[in-house]
Amino acid sequence: MDIVICKNAETAEKLAAAIIADALAAKPNLTLGLATGATMENLYHKLADMKLDFSLCKTFNLDEYVGLPAEDRNSYRYYMNYHFFDRINIDKRNTHLENGVAEDLEAECARYEEMMEEAGGVDLQLLGIGLSGHIGFNEPFSDWSSRTRAVNLTPVTMAQNGPYFDEAKGEKMPNRALTMGVGTVLDAKKLLMLVTGERKADIISKALEGPMTSMVSGSAIQLHPDCVVILDEAAAAKLTMKDYCYSAFANDPKWDAYRDIVK
Ligand code: GLP
Repeated sequence: MDIVICKNAETAEKLAAAIIADALAAKPNLTLGLATGATMENLYHKLADMKLDFSLCKTFNLDEYVGLPAEDRNSYRYYMNYHFFDRINIDKRNTHLENGVAEDLEAECARYEEMMEEAGGVDLQLLGIGLSGHIGFNEPFSDWSSRTRAVNLTPVTMAQNGPYFDEAKGEKMPNRALTMGVGTVLDAKKLLMLVTGERKADIISKALEGPMTSMVSGSAIQLHPDCVVILDEAAAAKLTMKDYCYSAFANDPKWDAYRDIVK
């Protein structure tokens, strides 16, 4: 795992954008796994500003709330259209999120897995981390062979994401979601985790330096053979192994192209 600590969120987002842009340049028909959350908003805006060619690209998002249709402003489909898809030249028919209003959720999840398989799997999976340690919506005790499925959200996640829902307007956060499983995420050819901000310092130290445990599903990324984690200094504040984080970056020619961004 390569861990890169950037001086601030802006630099971290720029580095993540550059890595995605290069993956797309190397493979124009890239299959991207995408994530939502406040952390990703500026990354998507930056990627859109780069005017890249996404016309051959396919995307699969990690997760979607159960019960929210695409036009609901709190759905992840709405988020993705707003922050990314409506700003780039992607063919919307190639963008996929689980359908949280499907009648048969189990069948919907199986269909989603099949679609990913038919697309040849995810080439590059973008990940954030929730305060519960989740990747996607894989809450504590999600087993590591788990696939796309319906899950219950924990109180920590309800508290983290609840404020996005405006109760005065009758909006209510669903307590269930559809999410790629930990096993689904680990099947991606490459993982790119982006985590910024002080409030993530505790959970990111558990995920990266703690034991691999299903109580912190983010720690599963330690198993992946090609995983890059980009942090800002605030998120990295509680890592005890900080001195090791730059080592790959300093010596490995694969990072040459990115040195100017991070310096
Ligand atoms: C949601 C998503 C996760 C994401 C997390 C982080 O819960 N399901 O995939 O990693 O948000 O959110 P934020 O970036 O807002 O902290």
